[in-house]
Formats: sequence, structure tokens, C-alpha cells
Amino acid sequence: MKSISAFSMVIAITSAYAANAESIYELSPSFKEFISKRRVKRSWDESETSNSKSVFDYNNDKVYGVNLGGWMVTEPYITPTLYWDASTDGTEATVPVDEYHYCKQLGTEECHTRLKKHWDSWIVESDFEKIKKYGFNTVRFPIGYWAFAHLSSDPYCFGQEEYLDKAIQWCRKYGLFLWIDLHGVPGSQNGFDNSGLRDHVDWQKHPLYVDLSLEILHYIMAKYGGEEYEDVVSAIQVLNEPLGSRLNINKLEEFYVNSYTQMRYLKSDTYIAYHDAFMAPEFWDSRLTGKVSHTSNITLYPHTGNLTGHTNTSTYQGNYYNIIIDHHRYEVFDVGQLSQSIDEHIASLKGFTSAILKEDKPKLVGEWAAAITDCAFWLNGVGRGARYDGTFQSTKKLGNCAYANDFGEWTKERRKEVRKLIEAQLDLYNQTSGFIFWCYKTEDAIEWDLEKLVEYDLFPQPLADRKYASVLSSDAAIVSSPLKNISKIEIIVLILTACALGLELL
Ligand SMILES: *[C@@H]1O[C@H](CO)[C@@H](O)[C@H](O)[C@H]1NC(C)=O
Ligand SMILES: *[C@@H]1O[C@H](CO)[C@@H](O)[C@H](O)[C@H]1NC(C)=O
Ligand SMILES: *[C@@H]1O[C@H](CO)[C@@H](O)[C@H](O)[C@H]1NC(C)=O
Ligand SMILES: *[C@@H]1O[C@H](CO)[C@@H](O)[C@H](O)[C@H]1NC(C)=O
Ligand SMILES: *[C@@H]1O[C@H](CO)[C@@H](O)[C@H](O)[C@H]1NC(C)=O
Repeated sequence: MKSISAFSMVIAITSAYAANAESIYELSPSFKEFISKRRVKRSWDESETSNSKSVFDYNNDKVYGVNLGGWMVTEPYITPTLYWDASTDGTEATVPVDEYHYCKQLGTEECHTRLKKHWDSWIVESDFEKIKKYGFNTVRFPIGYWAFAHLSSDPYCFGQEEYLDKAIQWCRKYGLFLWIDLHGVPGSQNGFDNSGLRDHVDWQKHPLYVDLSLEILHYIMAKYGGEEYEDVVSAIQVLNEPLGSRLNINKLEEFYVNSYTQMRYLKSDTYIAYHDAFMAPEFWDSRLTGKVSHTSNITLYPHTGNLTGHTNTSTYQGNYYNIIIDHHRYEVFDVGQLSQSIDEHIASLKGFTSAILKEDKPKLVGEWAAAITDCAFWLNGVGRGARYDGTFQSTKKLGNCAYANDFGEWTKERRKEVRKLIEAQLDLYNQTSGFIFWCYKTEDAIEWDLEKLVEYDLFPQPLADRKYASVLSSDAAIVSSPLKNISKIEIIVLILTACALGLELL
């Protein structure tokens, strides 16, 4: 608990009305119900102020987290069987490439039947107990916009929110915090399959998409940022991995500001997490800082299919507080990275960490993995191979992928390297507000699978156990590295390259 700074809040509400609304989206049943209740219950007290309280103190406590990836937002590489089973002719050519196409191919009803089976079985209560036993204190919960609203052309199904509510109960029961992460928005913010829709970056192309995203966040913030959940929800992340290089960054910043004022306007002190959008370290230092006075058009009472029916404009004035920058770091989405030795990887991770440590806001590493190859099947997407064996975006073969998912075939050296890489990242990221590993489980992608890594003694148990010298106390590991003098610019280039990967440029 802490008090960052006193602030004042002024709310002015005016009403704007826009005609010509057409039926363009549909809200989930619970979203709709929430809005109809709120309409009568809502009251405003402009004299109320916040004490900036938060259940998790990101300035002093460490997040030891794991991502519940592949659960409410499916990914072909995490659950290849689910996707194979949707192939119409048993060949890869008709395997849907993302959840959008999964539902489109099966039809919404059948999609719901199959996904419900997956939701009920992929992660269950005992997993939360296990995560706690492993020594973690936080789970990050990716969820797509389609859990809350559908565009009229969307094939997606509803039903995910119930599992978020269950997960929250289980977190309470086992003493974990839960971090909500809006992982996909309409049109896609990055074109990655894990945004729901691959190869499109259309989110900013239609004002409706951005407005609807804010509308959904408004719901998430009002429900999960309120008193009912303040003991367990430790952050709400407004957007996962917006691809800065493909977006209008000013508009993205406006979205970030808007979501901030919307949250505080709701009188919620819950931490708001912002992904760095793959921008250089310190990019956000000059932003989301100091005082904020912002007028946003919040659609307080959206009628179904009518986003612009009633718009209430709100002005929030106060300071930025309780925000955290989320950085993601992977070592495998670039041939240059894949060619590195373990010590070179570690040197570059050291450079990355020391760069983000200089930032003026709390920050953590909310996604990272144990991967030193991109061999996991469909990691780069359905129908794509791997850079590592020269079958994707490169013809240079660095190694053999055949045994990547077969631990029995891993050499001693390989096992040592992966453990070393994990230990290094734990030590490095533990200098920030913490780390959230990607991800809890997969069908067979060992390098991305906490459960298996623990089982194979590659992920330290307890978390602070070390087999190798700490990269913090000694520079020995990087003395031979040609990258030891890696510059900030080089890091930026690496990060930007890393984010463009996986995404075949459109
Ligand atoms: C929002 O706008 C509607 C209609 O324009 C108005 O009736 C309502 O009172 C406004 N809400 C608030 C909280 O002022
Ligand atoms: C809010 O809506 C009003 C009226 O439609 C418009 O003039 C104004 O530019 C909007 N503000 C923002 C921040 O979108
Ligand atoms: C949208 O809202 C306006 C104003 O309330 C209303 O006149 C119009 O019929 C609504 N359209 C739909 C599709 O609900
Ligand atoms: C993180 O660092 C703290 C000291 O700041 C230490 O007590 C703790 O054991 C470290 N955690 C891990 C998982 O290494
Ligand atoms: C790295 O920097 C150090 C001191 O800044 C310098 O002595 C050394 O030659 C540099 N090494 C390389 C490989 O550039």
C-alpha cells in the first residue's frame, strides 16, 4: 500500500448525441445486463477522491507470475490438436489460422461447443493450487474483446467471462493475484494470431473499433476494478502488444490516456498496465506522466447495436498514478537472435534489462520464455515453419527442429543452456517489479511450458534456487560476447525486428 500523490478529480458530464447509428455490434449477455443495472444505480459524487490504494505494491513487491496463455484466447501452437481437429480434410491447408477463422469455419455454435470443452479442461482449479505451490503469486489472464462484444460480422462466441470469474475465485482461494489482459481488440492491434485475427492490423482503421475497445474496457474496469475484486485483481492491462511500428502511435497514446481517465473516472485505483508497444525503452517516460486532464467521449449507455446512441463526455483531471509499463522479451523471432550462443543471449538480455530499469515508471517483464529456438510447431503460425531449420523467412539452417518437442532427445548441453537462460532471466527481471512467464502450459512446446520445465528441472524450484552463477554478481558469462557493448539503438532494432516477426508483412 502506498500513496503516490494526492490528486483531485473533476468530472463534468455533458451529453452529446449522434444520430445515424446502425446496428454494428452485439454485447455479451452479462455486459448488457450490467449496463441496464448501472443505468439505474449509477450515481456520481464529484467530491469523492481516491487514496491511490492498490492490493499489490508494484514499487516494493515482486510479481512472480505466469500467463494463462491459450485458455480464453486460443493459439494454434499452444493447443495444436484443437486446431487440427477443425481441419475439414485432415490436411494442414484447411486448419484455421486463428480463433476468428476457427469459429468462422466451424460456425459459432459448434465453435462454442468445442471451445467450452477446452475452457472446462485446459486449466482447472488444481492448476491454481499448483501455480501457488510453484511459488508464484500472480496469474496474467489474457482475454479477447470477443468475450464481451462482437462486431456484426464476427463469427466468435461468448462464454469466456464466466471463466475469468472462476479464475478470480480460485486465485482468492489459493492466495494469488490476477492481472486482466485485454489480448485482442476489433480489427487486431498487431496481426498476430494471438490477437484473434492474424495478418490484419486494422484496429485503428475504423473509429468504431477503437471506441468499442474503450467501451469494453469501461465494462472491465467498472466490474473488475471495483470494490468487489480489489483484493485480488492486481492490474488491468488495456491492450496486449499493440504493434507500434504499424500503428499511429499518437492515436495509441490517446487510447492509453483515454483508458486511464476512464478508469479513474470510475473511481477505481486499480493499477493500469500499458504494454510498451515495442517502442524503445524510455519511450513512455515523457508520456503518461504528471498531470492529466482529458476529455473523453464515453458511451455510458450503449444500446445494443448502437454505439453512438448516447455519448456522455467526461473530463477527468488528476495525476497519473498506479500505472505500470509491461515489456515483453523473446529471443527467437529473428535469425540474428537465433544464431546467438547462450552467453550472447544473456548479454543482450542484460542490455535490455538495464535499459528498462532506467525508465521512470514501475515496469516489469510480462512475457518471456525459455525458448532458444522457434521450433515449437506452429509457433510462427499455422502453415509456417521455423527460422531455426530454415523453413520460415530464411533458408539458412541453424539446426534441426525434429526433436525440439521431445525432451528425451535434448542433449545435456541443451538442458544446461535452457536452465541457464531461465535463471538469468529470473535474476534480471527480478530487478524490475517482476516477471510473468509465457506460458503456464502447452500441448508439447517444452520451451514455452512452465509445467514441463518444472517437471524437467529446468525451471528453478523454489524459484530462487540456482544451479549457475548469477548473472548479476558476475560478468563472467558475457566476457566473450561480441554483443557486450550492445547499444541502446541495437536493442531497439532487435525489439522492433522481433515484433515484426511472426507477422508476415502485409
Ligand atoms: C448521459 O447522457 C444521457 C443521455 O444523453 C443522460 O440522460 C444521462 O443523465 C447522462 N449520464 C450522466 C451520468 O450524466
Ligand atoms: C467528443 O465528441 C464531441 C462531439 O461529438 C467532439 O466534438 C469531440 O471532439 C470528441 N472528443 C474526443 C476526445 O473524441
Ligand atoms: C440508436 O440510438 C438512437 C437514439 O437513442 C435511436 O434513435 C436509434 O433508433 C438507435 N438505433 C438502434 C439501431 O438501436
Ligand atoms: C528477487 O530478489 C529478491 C531481493 O530483491 C530476493 O529476495 C528474491 O529471492 C529474488 N527472487 C527470485 C525468484 O530470484
Ligand atoms: C567495449 O567497451 C569497452 C569500454 O567501454 C572497450 O574497452 C572495449 O574495447 C569495447 N569492446 C568492444 C568489443 O567494442
